[in-house]
Amino acid sequence: MDFQNEALRQKAIIAQLRERFEKEYKETGRKKTYCCVTFGCQMNARDSEKLSGILEAIGYTRVEEEDADFVIYNTCTVREHANLKVYGRLGTLKKVKQEHPGMLIALCGCMMQEPQVVEKLRKSYRHVDIIFGTHNIYKLAELIRDRLDSGSMIVDIWKDTDQIVEDLPDHRKYPFKSGVNIMFGCNNFCSYCIVPYVRGRERSRRPEDILEEIRRDVSDGVVEVMLLGQNVNSYGKNLDEPMSFARLLQEIEAIDGLERIRFMTSHPKDLSDELIEVMGSSKKICPHLHLPLQSGSSRILKKMNRKYTKEDYLALVDKIRAACPDISLTTDIIVGFPWETEEDFEETMDVVEKVRFDSAFTFIYSKRNGTPAAAMPDQVPADVIKDRFDRLLAKVQSIASVVCARHEGQVMDVLVEQLNHQEAGLVTGRLGNNTVVHFPGDASMIGKIVPVYLKSCKGFYYIGEPYKKEV
Ligand code: 5AD
Ligand code: SF4
Repeated sequence: MDFQNEALRQKAIIAQLRERFEKEYKETGRKKTYCCVTFGCQMNARDSEKLSGILEAIGYTRVEEEDADFVIYNTCTVREHANLKVYGRLGTLKKVKQEHPGMLIALCGCMMQEPQVVEKLRKSYRHVDIIFGTHNIYKLAELIRDRLDSGSMIVDIWKDTDQIVEDLPDHRKYPFKSGVNIMFGCNNFCSYCIVPYVRGRERSRRPEDILEEIRRDVSDGVVEVMLLGQNVNSYGKNLDEPMSFARLLQEIEAIDGLERIRFMTSHPKDLSDELIEVMGSSKKICPHLHLPLQSGSSRILKKMNRKYTKEDYLALVDKIRAACPDISLTTDIIVGFPWETEEDFEETMDVVEKVRFDSAFTFIYSKRNGTPAAAMPDQVPADVIKDRFDRLLAKVQSIASVVCARHEGQVMDVLVEQLNHQEAGLVTGRLGNNTVVHFPGDASMIGKIVPVYLKSCKGFYYIGEPYKKEV
């Protein structure tokens, strides 16, 4: 397939639908609405911006309520719980649809890449109109047209893809910060993880496409970018002209007007010395690294197919801290992986104590069909897992509250993101290391980076005061 022509073809379909909707609008006097619900990670959040962009280009207006003319769930399947949530909400949506003739329901994202899910939807959820996966979201307009023309359920799932369609409409959620995909898919096959099966093999975007997108974002007022990929440290390996992630970061750093660069997610096994050096000398890369640990036990890490040991991880942390002394480290940890003994769990607790993370996302292991770990016996009873989970969370939180407070009394730059939801007269923003700060301010500050005196730390966030330099 020629993917440049494909983008043009999709744009033509968008234009046709737009015309069709405008005609309907003239007759009914009512604009059609859409509601896009995102489950899961930042990758999905970015995909939802692309879906929203297409829907708005067609002529739908965004609403937050799920009784819209077009409701789309962008699903996640990383843990079983995510799937259950979708089925639950689909049940509710059935009743909404009965009272709303002409409503369309679409499902896309990772959960749709699982054949047994699609089977179940086809059989028991006939009120769903369109089902597609992670590889063809750019086709949304075409799928809507096909559904409207055929009147029957449209299912379009691709197993994998080796191409990337650029340059379609997208609707960014924030005017001042953006998420930019630098690569798609994952080749790591950690034994518990379903992502490589639902997101396909690693594919990097061309650096010129990434740079152009960021330059465009910056000219629209963006000051912070989050570079997105399942494993950003292996960026560029499969390009015609291979390029390292560190090199890409240097090129992004050179973009005038861009103030902050973030990225997510890093795999410890691929984090190069070159990258550490670039992070150490950069003025724009934020002092924050999300470095999933998963387990502190080398024995469990081997069964997880993570390709590093506890010692490797600790040595890497030392190396990073030597180059970037003030960096915030955050992580992901899974509790209750098959074969995890009390000793293995103690190793995880030991790494948490040694590294002193700024925060950690802790997960109870969830068996995912089709992954190698799903065939391993469940050896850890649920009550033992729950007990370990609670102990881990308590440790993570008590360390984080001390670690996060280390900047108390300092003045640091905050990117103001929004008005505070709870208290009038306050705004909410983030430090470079991603810690949240609330301080007095108004809507005119949103999107600006301002110096703030960090008066007191309340566990995971700061209360601050605007800082005015004395002259
Ligand atoms: N069970 C529990 N947590 C999981 N993760 C990925 N797969 C599973 C699973 N089967 C967690 C990992 C990963 C994060 C995004 O989700 O910690 O880093
Ligand atoms: Fe899943 Fe491992 Fe790939 Fe992360 S690196 S998406 S945990 S397989």
